[in-house]
Amino acid sequence: MIVIGCDHAAVSLKKAIMAHLAEQKWDLVDIGTDGAPCDYPDVAKSLCEKIQSGEAEKGILLCGTGIGMSMAANKMKGIRAAVCSDGFSARYTRLHNDANVLCMGERVIGAGLALELVDIFLETPFEGGRHKRRVDLITALENNQ
Ligand code: RB5
Repeated sequence: MIVIGCDHAAVSLKKAIMAHLAEQKWDLVDIGTDGAPCDYPDVAKSLCEKIQSGEAEKGILLCGTGIGMSMAANKMKGIRAAVCSDGFSARYTRLHNDANVLCMGERVIGAGLALELVDIFLETPFEGGRHKRRVDLITALENNQ
């Protein structure tokens, strides 16, 4: 399952991504907001909890810039959130970082590019190998705080 969430600054982008993913095989759950003003750390927390519990495999978080969502999400254990606005980053954050949350900003990129980044992010596997050791080191940093 894929979980998606946004704050009030990215409702249009979320709708575009939901329509796009509805045409594909993904089982998608929307955790809001539907437009009501809200605080992005609260949305990030709810979404990341779905990943931590194992209910969701990956998440997509959207706000004005994608940055606030990524900052909040990366405070959550086991979450590796990446803000992306280009295809190379979306691909390599899966291949090398095993990112489990994609963050994007509705005020930064257009919907066409965002849909491409979503596809890349969801379809690219983690490469493992030497990158697993490095991702494990990130986890160790988290566990030693
Ligand atoms: C909301 O105005 C805006 O601050 C938020 O969507 C986001 O861009 C924060 O990083």
